[in-house]
Amino acid sequence: MQGHSTYEPKPGVAKWFEDRLPIVGLIHSSAVAYPVPRNLNYLWTFGGILTFMLVAQILTGVVLVMHYTPHASLAFESVEKIMRDVNYGWLLRYLHANGASMFFIAVYIHIFRGMYYGSYKAPREILWILGVLIFLLMMATAFMGYVLPWGQMSFWGATVITNLFSAIPVVGETLVTWLWGGFAVDNATLQRFFSLHYLLPFVIVGVVGLHIWALHHVGQNNPAGVDIKDIRRDTVPFTPYATLKDGFAMVCFLIFFSWFVFYTPNYLGHADNYIKANSLVTPSHIVPEWYFLPFYAILRAIPSKLGGVLCMFGAIAVLFVLPWLDTSKVRSGKYRPLFKQFFWVFVGVCVLLGWLGSKPPEGWYVTISQIATFYYFAHFLIILPLLGMLETPKPLPASIADDVLADEEKRGGHSALANLAAAREAQR
Ligand code: HEM
Repeated sequence: MQGHSTYEPKPGVAKWFEDRLPIVGLIHSSAVAYPVPRNLNYLWTFGGILTFMLVAQILTGVVLVMHYTPHASLAFESVEKIMRDVNYGWLLRYLHANGASMFFIAVYIHIFRGMYYGSYKAPREILWILGVLIFLLMMATAFMGYVLPWGQMSFWGATVITNLFSAIPVVGETLVTWLWGGFAVDNATLQRFFSLHYLLPFVIVGVVGLHIWALHHVGQNNPAGVDIKDIRRDTVPFTPYATLKDGFAMVCFLIFFSWFVFYTPNYLGHADNYIKANSLVTPSHIVPEWYFLPFYAILRAIPSKLGGVLCMFGAIAVLFVLPWLDTSKVRSGKYRPLFKQFFWVFVGVCVLLGWLGSKPPEGWYVTISQIATFYYFAHFLIILPLLGMLETPKPLPASIADDVLADEEKRGGHSALANLAAAREAQR
């Protein structure tokens, strides 16, 4: 699905270079000539936003490290020094900490978009699986990053989560000691988390490279979920159409991001993390960052520790096999009247789980968490397989161009594409 590149290097150095390393031609075919379905909506701009955020996190992180000290007795003070003494250190830190939250907002929109439009279905299974792998790596990176400021939540969050592995039969206790590098979360733990927190983003860059390679190989899905039939009618070149639209969406997203950084930089964090880690004082209420809350709720919904751990990891593992659980032949939720409703119930259940994750695990909260956890798994393991067999989808548009024309007609407008279609008809 690489675009047919019209790039012709000028004779001379450009041609000499291109004959030896055809990199400009590659960039041209994948970021200029690459054909994108002409009916993409703004939800398709989040892949670009995520790429931007990944680069932004790496850049702010690399500069933060120039002032940060990864040692249990100095980490907290070095972060305070960044906030008070380093020029624009506060900005760097707030960009990096809030950037992590923005990254997760964008990735959740990106994932739900894929679920609604069936972007995980053939031939995009590998593309989807690579995405789930990126999601896992992102969670590991964010979890270890949160430990680095060595505040109370850093320390106790790390203690609770690493302790989960002790539920694994036989090897559990040994595994936890090995993870900690000692008999408690301490300096050795901080240093290995620091090392991995620096390493993993580059692993993510590698997997994102594969993700985009797979995307360019099979081509983008689109809101109608039908394949590209006629490149000229159904697609537009990536540049200028997608580049401009992605750029505009990115600016809007940056305004949203800036609002957090400049007006309420600690809103998404926890006040206890401004208290230095103390192994003798347990906070009354240990909560992870907001983006982990749905999974945290699933963990605590199950009375047995091992069961909770299995369900929590299972909640992500089930995403790997999603392409084979959804039995419908139709990709897009737009043409699946029943699926559409169940999709929104599922989104509601995920939000509910997030809210429950922030509540203490007692009384009704536990009961509702158990029902929501059951529904989460039922959506994938019962509802999706059955829906594909029972549902009667609406008729699909014959092509992407027809989908655009139908939308235009609904709005009562007359587009350039409609003119083109009319001219073609007249020619025939
Ligand atoms: C660092 C994180 C990620 C980056 C930088 C990234 C990047 C991209 C880009 C640039 C696109 C094409 C533009 C678009 O469709 O929005 C894309 C498409 C896609 N991504 Fe991601 N992605 C990330 C994470 C994920 C995750 C976590 C998943 C799923 C679990 C996922 C699944 C998909 C799918 C299925 C498509 C194809 C969409 C379609 O054509 O309809 N991605 N991604």
